[in-house]
Amino acid sequence: MQEVKIHEGIKEALKGITLSEDIGFGKYMSPIMIECNYREGKWHEIELKPYQKIELDPCTKVLHYGQEIFEGMKAYRNAGSEDVFLFRPNENAKRFNTSAARMGMAQIPESLFLKSVDLISSYSRKLIPRRQGESLYIRPFMIASEVGLGIAPSKEFKFIVVASPSAKYFSAGSIDVFVEREASRAAPGGTGRAKTGGNYAASLMTTVKSLENGFHQVMWLDAKEKTYIEEMSGMNFFAVINGELHTPELTDTILKGITRDSIIKLAQYNGLKCVERKISIDELALDIKNGKCTEAFVCGTASIIVPVGSLSDGRDIDVKLKNPNGIISSGLRENLLKIQSAQMESPFSDWIFRVSHIELE
Ligand SMILES: Cc1ncc(COP(=O)(O)O)c(C=O)c1O
Repeated sequence: MQEVKIHEGIKEALKGITLSEDIGFGKYMSPIMIECNYREGKWHEIELKPYQKIELDPCTKVLHYGQEIFEGMKAYRNAGSEDVFLFRPNENAKRFNTSAARMGMAQIPESLFLKSVDLISSYSRKLIPRRQGESLYIRPFMIASEVGLGIAPSKEFKFIVVASPSAKYFSAGSIDVFVEREASRAAPGGTGRAKTGGNYAASLMTTVKSLENGFHQVMWLDAKEKTYIEEMSGMNFFAVINGELHTPELTDTILKGITRDSIIKLAQYNGLKCVERKISIDELALDIKNGKCTEAFVCGTASIIVPVGSLSDGRDIDVKLKNPNGIISSGLRENLLKIQSAQMESPFSDWIFRVSHIELE
């Protein structure tokens, strides 16, 4: 296990931190961060530092070739205890390494990843809100830190973890979704399954256009036929059709969401059938019109579960869900939130990770 170096100034940085009433998302950062460097073929010590700027040479590879990956996870604290919990962090560690492999980056030992998120959650515990739906958002990321303009995989990497108190992601009751029929986010054989910045950069042009037209989110279709639903720019998709849950089956162009997987497992545990299959947008629009599809929702760590109110591609499709805040999505959301903040026992024993209780001397 990597040694931990606690930098001077941590105590000072953490002194008097208080949680603002107006938390937002990614608005206030924890005053501390984790950094760990990979050089000469190995990971060095885990450093806990005051939050600070990172200095990079203008020729650092990440700035030119986008060799970078990230994760998103949350630490929860419930109203009744001082304990802090992470939700399935080992899944984030595994996905981080899947992304690293796809991007030609160094693997990170799962123990190093888990120790780092445990440390930042524990030291930042005062910044973890207690109201339901609020948490500390944790952002681990890794960049190619070797200097040089040659297009070759970096031999040096920097792993950093920052954290930020997070309110509910969407306060609006439901979201209006723009269905993109032209541009693509990810193509077969590409990097869609990896959590790497380039996928998000590829989505931003459509995001600009959809926000201008009053939509909250973009739905991506398969790159080849522009017919089958894949996912949102940062969330997976579900629909309730004939009383069953349906979600696009995973391909190499879809991020394997941990919330998605948890919803499938939770639904099945509660006796609700869940079908993973190709879903055509035209078929879904028809099912919404004829009342077979009663609910649709998006899900992810940041948003948990948010109902879809309408879908439009600006051409042939323009459908509204009659009752977006349906019983199935709100029930799943309630269950998931209670499990994540340990207000309800998880039916799956390995879902909840109790964060270490570290006191600063
Ligand atoms: C593209 C994309 N799809 C889906 C998700 C949902 O994944 P998770 O539930 O693991 O947060 C995310 C967020 O991480 C994402 O960025």
